[in-house]
Amino acid sequence: MCGIVGFIGKEEAAPILLDGLARLEYRGYDSAGLAVFGEEKGLQVVKSKGRLQALSDLTKAGSTIQGTAGMGHTRWATHGVPSDVNAHPQASESGRFAVIHNGIIENFAEIKEFLQNQGVKFSSQTDTEVAANLLDYLYEGDLLEAVSKMLHRIRGAYAFGIICADCPDMLVGVRKDSPLILGHGEGFNFFASDVTAIIKYTREVSYLDNDEIAVITREGTQVYDSYLQPVKKERHHVDWEVSAAEKGGYAHFMLKEVMEQPEALRKTISPRLQNGQVKLDDLHFDVQYLKAMDKIYIIACGSSYHVGMAAKYTLEKLLHKPVEVALASEFRYCEPLVSEHTLAIVISQSGETIDTLTAMREAKRLGARVLSIVNVVGSTIARESDDVIYTWAGPEIAVATTKAYSTQLAVTYLIGLAFAQMMGTIEKEEYEAIVNELQLLPEKLQKVLEQREAIQYFASLYFNHSSIFFIGRHLDYAVGMEGSLKLKEISYIHSEAYAAGELKHGTISLIEDGTLVVALASYKPLFEKMMSNVIEVKSRGADVIGLTTEDVGPEMMKTVDHIITVPDTHPMLLPSLDVVPLQLFAYYVALQRGCDIDKPRNLAKSVTVE
Ligand code: F6R
Repeated sequence: MCGIVGFIGKEEAAPILLDGLARLEYRGYDSAGLAVFGEEKGLQVVKSKGRLQALSDLTKAGSTIQGTAGMGHTRWATHGVPSDVNAHPQASESGRFAVIHNGIIENFAEIKEFLQNQGVKFSSQTDTEVAANLLDYLYEGDLLEAVSKMLHRIRGAYAFGIICADCPDMLVGVRKDSPLILGHGEGFNFFASDVTAIIKYTREVSYLDNDEIAVITREGTQVYDSYLQPVKKERHHVDWEVSAAEKGGYAHFMLKEVMEQPEALRKTISPRLQNGQVKLDDLHFDVQYLKAMDKIYIIACGSSYHVGMAAKYTLEKLLHKPVEVALASEFRYCEPLVSEHTLAIVISQSGETIDTLTAMREAKRLGARVLSIVNVVGSTIARESDDVIYTWAGPEIAVATTKAYSTQLAVTYLIGLAFAQMMGTIEKEEYEAIVNELQLLPEKLQKVLEQREAIQYFASLYFNHSSIFFIGRHLDYAVGMEGSLKLKEISYIHSEAYAAGELKHGTISLIEDGTLVVALASYKPLFEKMMSNVIEVKSRGADVIGLTTEDVGPEMMKTVDHIITVPDTHPMLLPSLDVVPLQLFAYYVALQRGCDIDKPRNLAKSVTVE
């Protein structure tokens, strides 16, 4: 949700900023801009509606703006339509300040009115221009004083990058509930929304906390709290490779990330399995706590929520405790029944989703203990949780999540197994059977990926449909929800996921000749029931693609039009295999339709507005 990067050093800033923005473009891509301070021309602001390429063309790859200190922004519009004038950076009326911003200033309207009453004129519809003008209004010759005063006047979630024409040798970064990191180099320094933007230049980073103000100069960085008291920050070394954030020969990040899933699963599972036992050294739970637990609340959004839907079935079965799955955006407002015996499992790839973060804080406030499953190390959710278990999926760049979803699922199995063993709610044989199959998952997943061509063929048959249904029962239903979301978000085809038994209570009226139904029937205890539902839609003219395990594939093929099979495994682990053909189906449908797969319309990765 908007990418920001700032650089100050000895080299020309603009090309470095454009390179950083290219790696942040997944966070927003409706417009982009640069502010660079040069000795000759002072503070220069250039911006353009559209993809980053438009800005790069406008500035001849950054060569037309000289200066060694600057900042860049790629936008996902909140206040004001995507346009040149609403793009960031936003300058104050006097031109003294340029500001880039990720997030929302909730009280921008009242501040704008106040400033207008002081005679300030605005040219954009953005809340960011309000911040730039507020800074200018509060400025009495001391930049940090003005920033500190501004922080005490505004409400909302934000990460700001600030340049003041009076202080050309420094950049200022500020954050509250939107991510901002500092990158440390020799003679140069950065701020950025995330590590991908700067990893080419430095692996030494520190994470800003809420209400902190960072001053970034060529010589170093200094962080202050909002009252300008110095704060000492820990440095962290990032050890993943630059190539992890590049396409590596694939047409799209999404396809690369789908194909990386066996490896991502291996990295997430293997270090946590020792001699056939799940070892979660990252967690600190004792058996008394687990036994006294009154319920588990899983809190997440989007695909992470779908992981929660699957985890509900497995955790309830393994732990004999009630599990409630809540959409994070609803949780805060539904007066959730949480006690000090409630465990909140918070799932988030980015660790920055504001809905999830605020729901997590509410769960904590109500007394819950928070265990988060997060992919981005050092992210806010990870840092604010009582316990965190990382998915080792590596950087996920495509807006549509794939490998993060898979590794989140894997972590829910590990948590279930570890807790069930501690609580004595699982038989030894069952435990061993699941652990065995868990170890085989990456290999089996590789086999599923080998069916790419068949799935591409099915996609070529149905890519021009206007509506596609996914039906399933139990775990298959949870996976269908994810398959449907993948299809919707990248191919723009309307799609619904339905609990197969529920279809006849209304939605079946939408099934007509040629409607495509993807029927998931891999959960064996409900295979026959599921087949009855398949027959119901077939009798109303639907084309059905069946998805089931290899052993029952021939049986299902007698009824459906096409079949995709996955290797058999423990029923609890089936979602990990079933989801992959659905990811590939969505991918190839979107490819046939000529969609912008990695950057679907209206979306952005890491949703930092409510
Ligand atoms: C869908 C997708 C989103 C995210 C959701 C939560 O492909 O990526 O639905 O799953 O926005 O994001 P995180 O997991 O970062 O909290």
